[in-house]
Amino acid sequence: MNIIFHEQTRTFHLYNDEISYIMTVLPSGHMGQLYFGKAIRDREDFSHLLEDTFRITASYLSEEQNTMSLEHLKQEYPVYGTTDYREPAVEVIQANGSHLSNLQYSGYRITDGKPKLSGLPATYTEDDSEAKTLTITLKDPLTGLAAELLYTIFAGGGALARSVHFINQGTEILHLGRAMSLALDLPDCNYEWLQFSGVWARERHLKTRSLEPGIVSVGSLRGASSHEHNPFIILKRPHTDENQGEAIGFSLIYSGNFLAQAEVDNQDVTRILLGIHPDTFDWKLEPGADFQTPEAVMVYSSLGLNHLSQTFHRLYQKRLARGYWRDRPRPILINNWEATYFDFTEDRLVTIAGKAKECGVELFVLDDGWFGARRNDSAGLGDWYANKELLPNGISGLSRRIEALGMKFGLWFEPEMVNEDSDLYRAHPDWILRTPGRSASLGRHQHVLDYSRKEVVDYIYEMMAKLLREARISYIKWDMNRYITECYSAALPSDRQGEVFHRYILGVYDLYDRLTREFPHVLFESCASGGARFDPGLLYYAPQGWTSDDSDAIERLKIQYGTSYCYPISCMGSHVSAVPNHQVFRSTPLYTRANVAYFGTFGYELDLNKLTADEQEEVKQQIAFMKEYRELFQFGVFYRLRSPFEDNYTSWMVVSPDQKTAIVGWYKTLNHVNVPFTRVRLQGLAPDLCYHLEDSSLSFYGDELMNAGLITSDSMCGELTGKRPSCDFDSRLFILKAY
Ligand code: DGJ
Repeated sequence: MNIIFHEQTRTFHLYNDEISYIMTVLPSGHMGQLYFGKAIRDREDFSHLLEDTFRITASYLSEEQNTMSLEHLKQEYPVYGTTDYREPAVEVIQANGSHLSNLQYSGYRITDGKPKLSGLPATYTEDDSEAKTLTITLKDPLTGLAAELLYTIFAGGGALARSVHFINQGTEILHLGRAMSLALDLPDCNYEWLQFSGVWARERHLKTRSLEPGIVSVGSLRGASSHEHNPFIILKRPHTDENQGEAIGFSLIYSGNFLAQAEVDNQDVTRILLGIHPDTFDWKLEPGADFQTPEAVMVYSSLGLNHLSQTFHRLYQKRLARGYWRDRPRPILINNWEATYFDFTEDRLVTIAGKAKECGVELFVLDDGWFGARRNDSAGLGDWYANKELLPNGISGLSRRIEALGMKFGLWFEPEMVNEDSDLYRAHPDWILRTPGRSASLGRHQHVLDYSRKEVVDYIYEMMAKLLREARISYIKWDMNRYITECYSAALPSDRQGEVFHRYILGVYDLYDRLTREFPHVLFESCASGGARFDPGLLYYAPQGWTSDDSDAIERLKIQYGTSYCYPISCMGSHVSAVPNHQVFRSTPLYTRANVAYFGTFGYELDLNKLTADEQEEVKQQIAFMKEYRELFQFGVFYRLRSPFEDNYTSWMVVSPDQKTAIVGWYKTLNHVNVPFTRVRLQGLAPDLCYHLEDSSLSFYGDELMNAGLITSDSMCGELTGKRPSCDFDSRLFILKAY
């Protein structure tokens, strides 16, 4: 890995074994983008990559520079206007109403390692040798605005982390109307755009379309990254598939409003923008003040989508997630939500936990309903102390009883919300986000607390910390169950209301930061009505997240498959729940529910007392199995093999880092009669190793499994399944071990 600056040509080259990123100072003083892709050898002069020509309808910077039309140059961080008619990365508003700016190259700095971003989650290094960071400073001579473009290249892998730091070095007040984290102009538009979209209980479904002239975008204006779209997109070449071909992934480490966009211009250049959504954003920069954008990560792969995902997985698992739990296999948990909803007593909870313990579960999680006057979802939010009618011995008493069973205890919070029927709201009705003179809408009977205010965050912190200090709490599920509308803070002046959405998220990060610092051994799981904030921002604080409220195994195939394009398996909360399933009312075999949930942070979401003795025995075996293999599931290399978005069959696998053990998950949605044989080509094995297929007499070489494939047809699998009749929602795990 290295970052080279060629003085003569004023060209920067960031490279490692996989990627090169090249940019140059244009004759006009703006920064130009020359190349991002597979690593190429360095040279003094890359100016041949600069494509400029006089175009008949172009506006140009001056008569002397009539090929210098910013509309037709690939730029690094384009501003609004000044000959560029495409959407910009930044828009600065002066007191006189001008929206123009002119960011000129002024210098650079190369440092080892990676600096922290103040108040924001970001990738990090543990040792300076792991990365190098280039900071390019641009300045607007008129306003004195400085923009520092930060680029970090890591020693291994195709990832580049980017962000922008603005400083108002002038004397007038400026407003940032838009400040994207990343802009990238690519020389052509021969790409397919992949987005991960959905809705509550159907998150992160893969959607694909070709790029055409014009704009394609996804984003969120809901105050959270959202169920609807994820701050992650991929551009891939049309022929690229999971295992070969070029692709670039763009991911924003942020949990609030975002925009991810591709604009194809009149010359087929594709401009990518990624950052905080400019609608609803307006940041006042007083002289001397600064603003840091969230970090964006881009990953280039020349080896297909699996390789792209694995690069994200490694980086996000090892250098975004942090803390005690980062590298530890996650406890197998039972959560009482789908078992009881609000209908529980202390004894009933202990009975559920007791049976779970008997089956081998390690952590009992008490979900919603334990606090304040909460007996349903219309009261109590904001009052983070135990409801003594339900829990006469408080959370401390319950946690002691759970620990006496030999299990750890976990607790649900929804710290950002308040019900009108709560002590907190009665004491501080002005602490919610609401616009003066307008109605304050409700969602799930609740309001959103104004986390842009420090005193609000302080207050919630004190309540939560008190409980965590008193009771033995090993895990927190942090939920967030409504979006933000009427966003306005009573504590900020009118010219700062455009900051509230972002300040809100900074408040959320601040609370996470304080709690994870004071309670470093507590395992945090993020959640937002299932997967409405399943984003890299929260992964920095909570190493796992509840993937979706849809716990049906078949629905989960698409949700978990889609999620895996960016996020590692170790962060996907996935549980076995009761049948008929509570969301889609489907009944699937117990083994299929487990076979899907193993590929995540495994747990149960039902009352095991209600299962038959045979089923309880099966659960015991599942838990024993997961304990044996969870390191492989959670920290192995994950490959997608067959897509539920294309097929009746789904398949994926994990391989141990030493390639000696692999587990293949194979799932059938509907059963058909007289069907073709099926086989799946495996990935990531050692070609020369001979793998024994567990519970069978069969062995195969890695090269055979990866090229001829593993036969998954029923005729072949009879030996594995004890000739279990084939059925709808069937599944199998194939365990391969090389000796
Ligand atoms: C939404 C979460 O996604 C569920 O798992 C559960 O915690 C409920 N909220 C509780 O209100």
